Amino acid sequence: MIRKCFRIIVLFIILLSSTLRADEGMWIPILIEKFNIEIMQEKGFKLSAEDIYSVNQASMKDAVMIFGGGCTAELISDKGLLITNHHCGYRAIQSHSTVDHDYLTNGFWAMSQGEELTNPGLTVTFLKWMKDVTGEVLKGIEDGMSDEKKSDIKQENIDMIKKNAIEGTHFTAQVKPFYYGNQYFLFINETYKDVRLVGAPPSAIGKFGGDTDNWMWPRHTGDFSMFRIYAGKDNKPSEYSPDNVPFKPKKFFPISLKGTKPGDFTMVFGYPGSTYEYVPSFHLQMLTRDIYPALIDVRTKKLEIMQNAMEKSPEVRIQYSAKAAGVSNSWKRWKGEIRGLDKLDAVIKKQDYEKRFIEWTGENPEKNRRYGKLLERYEKVYGEIAPVRLGQSYFREVFYGGMENISLVSGFSKLVSMAENDVLPEEIDKVLESLRKRAAAFFKNYDPATGDALAVAMLSMFDENVPEKYYPEEYKKIMEKYNGNYQIWIKKVRKKSLFMDEEVLLGFLNSFKTPDVKKIKKDPIYRLAQSAEKRYGIIRSEYRKLNQELETLHRLYMKAQMEFEPGKLFYPDANFSLRVSYGEVLGYDPRDAVSYKYYTTLEGVIEKDNPEIYDYDVPDKLKELYLKKDYGRYSQDGKIPICFLATNHTTGGNSGSPVIDAEGNLIGINFDRAWEGVMSDLMFNPKQCRNISLDIRYALFIIDKFAGAGYLLDEMTLVE
Ligand code: ARG
Ligand code: ASP
Repeated sequence: MIRKCFRIIVLFIILLSSTLRADEGMWIPILIEKFNIEIMQEKGFKLSAEDIYSVNQASMKDAVMIFGGGCTAELISDKGLLITNHHCGYRAIQSHSTVDHDYLTNGFWAMSQGEELTNPGLTVTFLKWMKDVTGEVLKGIEDGMSDEKKSDIKQENIDMIKKNAIEGTHFTAQVKPFYYGNQYFLFINETYKDVRLVGAPPSAIGKFGGDTDNWMWPRHTGDFSMFRIYAGKDNKPSEYSPDNVPFKPKKFFPISLKGTKPGDFTMVFGYPGSTYEYVPSFHLQMLTRDIYPALIDVRTKKLEIMQNAMEKSPEVRIQYSAKAAGVSNSWKRWKGEIRGLDKLDAVIKKQDYEKRFIEWTGENPEKNRRYGKLLERYEKVYGEIAPVRLGQSYFREVFYGGMENISLVSGFSKLVSMAENDVLPEEIDKVLESLRKRAAAFFKNYDPATGDALAVAMLSMFDENVPEKYYPEEYKKIMEKYNGNYQIWIKKVRKKSLFMDEEVLLGFLNSFKTPDVKKIKKDPIYRLAQSAEKRYGIIRSEYRKLNQELETLHRLYMKAQMEFEPGKLFYPDANFSLRVSYGEVLGYDPRDAVSYKYYTTLEGVIEKDNPEIYDYDVPDKLKELYLKKDYGRYSQDGKIPICFLATNHTTGGNSGSPVIDAEGNLIGINFDRAWEGVMSDLMFNPKQCRNISLDIRYALFIIDKFAGAGYLLDEMTLVE
């Protein structure tokens, strides 16, 4: 008896400690008080839930922003200075770069506010407040209604909620579904539009290790860049103006110089994009068997072509670096996800769970009625949606990511319809002007030889791998006429089309007269683009229809899972809303006999140094600092720390997120995950899933010692 009791207690302790250690989850800021703060404090957090999110007082949420379209950034001074990743600022840095001013290769540092560079289109968005609006969204919905009717009512409700919430303000509103539409939250946001580049290290620091080290540990990337938010004199958002002044925030993060050690509390506060933790086994099978392998093949080809060209020419390197990084990033992650899910036996785990779930639904007729057929229905829909999703993704890879010139065409259909409908010349002039700008921006990053090679390769792969029903009409014609020899086709197109050459296109736009519309309509690239758009529309609506069915099932299955496991605290899947992930600083064991330490140092940068390889060519200045050990206050155990690992649950979108210590100070900037754990979007493994952060001291060291921009440190608050 006593032995039995003892065993139960031991088991209980093991269970308890494993739930405490498993730092899975991305939590909702306004529910931290209710669900998480106790555990967070047990893990060492010294502050309160109000310090994280509050509407009454300045809190951390006032210092965290959406940066651009899909990253996070945080404020580090009371003069609107923000820090994010180098890869998040990449497009901005690249757009200012030319062979003569190559900020990608050499870095950029504004030595005063006057030298900061403006970035039209770049914005940052703050969350003002959020609120649960489930009741209001679902008002008027009744059980017997059709799905269509329900979704119409919901949409009306949502429009009304948003309208009422922002009436008379300059804020924007969003209502987002959580738990697949079992709950809804309203978000009120404020967007600033004048965001200027302040500093970025050379790629040999900010992107050190490039795509080779991406998603990997040990990592030595100084992945940061800095921008400054400008506002009108009233501190409110304003379009760019030389009269704007640095934004004065309610809150910014003090920076800790104290360093990290294993077990230290960490919190990541940012915008995770999307995860799928509660979907059935069929979903994982679809991705790992049907979708990922095919997309990996297309991208392998793209990368081969881009990398070859980039190695040969510095100009092409600038033109294609951001494109290649984008292509490579998911390509590599997909490979890691397949591997990670396989090692975890994720499909089998889900199948076991589903078996237990079905047994549970059999326990009583009511549950059986509601959920008994769920998995069968899932199986059917996944069977139907998998080929459509593959067709859709392939289509996008080829026509919207492979054949580059097609992207130039979109504004031209507007021009055609304006000219054909006798729209006023002034209006047409405006469109011509915007097309000229678009063309200039496109050709800055376009190399004809590389573009042609990509087009030929993509069109051939499409022909080999995609069923005929997905072919655009115009593509079919080309295929037949040229017997699959796209090389010959592209040569002809190069001579004939308006969209292959900057001079030709600008010449056309500059002398444009209404009858020229004929030339556009006859253009082979224009025709292919039009025809692709038509076909894509059909595929997309087919996909949407099936996906809607899937969403309905997800909503039901989510609800069912919560009933199936009433004791479990479910976090909602990521949906690019502000979330808190907490965890601890910790290394991991990637495989038998190998143990990874939790942080890397400058010694490792020097170890990887290789002047022959662009991504590993350590700048001389950095080597000098290393030799002189000129480390200032930024070292740990006599070495400069670069990156560290922790157990926070993060995903794409969390890049640039602040990594915060127990006292609420900034210790790092989240930027990646480690290879063995990249399947965390689909299944989290506490033993292997680690987020990778830049140690903030490396950023300070680079700013101060490497760039000589120490003046920026004066506006920060450093905590020793
Ligand atoms: N893997 C990180 C993320 O998903 C960093 C990507 C940027 N770096 C690169 N080498 N492509 O965004
Ligand atoms: N690197 C990712 C990002 O850009 C973060 C991640 O996927 O872990 O958001």
